[in-house]
Amino acid sequence: MQNSPKKLFMQTYGCQMNEYDSLKISKLMSAACGFVVSNNIEEADMIIFNTCSIREKAQQKMFSELGALNPLKQQNPNLVVAVGGCVASQEKKNIIRRAPIVNIVFGPQTWQSLPEFYKTYLATKTRVINTEFQAVEKFACLANLAATKTPFPVAYISIMEGCNNFCSYCVVPYTRGREISRSFADVMLEVNALAHQGVKEINFLGQNVNNYSGIKSDGSTSNLAHLIQAAAQIPQISRIRFTTSHPAHFDDELIALYAHEKKLVHHVHLPVQSGSNRILKLMRRNYTHEEYREKIAKLRTICPNITIATDFIVGFPGETEEEFFATLDLATTIGFDISFSFMYSQRPNTLSAKLPDDIPLNIKKQRLYALQKVLNASAKKVSQEMVGTIQKIIVADFSRKNKQQLVGRTANNRIVNFTAPADLIGQEVAVKITSVLTNSLQGELVLL
Ligand code: SAH
Ligand code: SF4
Ligand code: F3S
Repeated sequence: MQNSPKKLFMQTYGCQMNEYDSLKISKLMSAACGFVVSNNIEEADMIIFNTCSIREKAQQKMFSELGALNPLKQQNPNLVVAVGGCVASQEKKNIIRRAPIVNIVFGPQTWQSLPEFYKTYLATKTRVINTEFQAVEKFACLANLAATKTPFPVAYISIMEGCNNFCSYCVVPYTRGREISRSFADVMLEVNALAHQGVKEINFLGQNVNNYSGIKSDGSTSNLAHLIQAAAQIPQISRIRFTTSHPAHFDDELIALYAHEKKLVHHVHLPVQSGSNRILKLMRRNYTHEEYREKIAKLRTICPNITIATDFIVGFPGETEEEFFATLDLATTIGFDISFSFMYSQRPNTLSAKLPDDIPLNIKKQRLYALQKVLNASAKKVSQEMVGTIQKIIVADFSRKNKQQLVGRTANNRIVNFTAPADLIGQEVAVKITSVLTNSLQGELVLL
């Protein structure tokens, strides 16, 4: 009798790069070790947590979820638990000290060796810990996995990894290492493979994606603008986005692309963090709020219907009420699309960890609440302005609430539900927006 295949359960925390890595890890473990992916943690033979360390809360949640695995290990002593990602990179063997249930610790750039770590663990029953920075090997593994099947019409492609900016509050340069780009040919190989599978939208990922510098076969390098134009030549690809951008590296060549590259979505995520120049300086962001506003003005001149999303941190050490008002003023005057805002969280090893985390929690909460009120109002305004317009939607699936309807996303990432035949799933369609609901829009299919 044939044994039933071993089951792999994956839990992913954090950013899109972790989502991307998790998809590739599951493909690798299926191909190399015969796992099938399961959504049922109770029946898993292997559990992988791909973790995020950006804020303390994200990390705490992960440790408490690891603690909850103890009864599963008691039921199934052969269960293998692996922890990867940015917490693993930061905490290394401390993970095992805090959670002895863990058998394998791997980093954001060693997951390509996970099949080997797994086999070593099975053979020796000794824990394996390896969180080195091995981007070259990781990128080679990504190239081998380029042609594996992706289930959605929308896909991420990691094009560079790591960050050299060392913003004073941020763990990423420590957990993901220094900036390193994939070669132009490797990225294009993956874009082509995805296009042939029916992927319509690609999202180029990098912690500092504007600094992409991929070596080409003739020895020259491609920047992000060049890569976008090359990908846009592929007829099956209808939409291109990239994330996350740094305002200081968002250059004129990239801005100019919005004037003529039709496949580049008219939506950009450009984290600003604060509206106060003193705080921006302490954050080591390398721009002033005036320079940020100027970039937005340029983008809006070149592309009047562009929508802009951002990230903010409130309660940075020493942030005065006046400085917070400067943030509120920036949010109010720019009028952002759906954005993200966080309370400052002190992270180990970072430069700002040397400053006292002196804004009391209740003040941080009040500031976050006040900022989110402004951000929610401006995002709602963007939604309302979309009513009556015709939007291009990439149809992802059946609507979750109403199976008669399909669901997809607009260029500015709004979820739209509309009635249409099922064979449009995976296609790009035109939809007229008819109303705004709390977390989504309703629309009507339009035949162009
Ligand atoms: N590379 C991206 C952001 C990566 S982290 C960039 O530079 O914009 C995503 C967001 O998390 C950041 O934009 C920031 O708003 C937030 N963040 C990062 N470190 C944080 C910290 N220590 N406390 C609170 N929020 C933080
Ligand atoms: Fe972190 Fe700054 Fe790099 Fe973004 S640019 S990943 S916030 S160090
Ligand atoms: Fe988190 Fe690491 Fe991404 S810290 S946000 S998973 S780069």
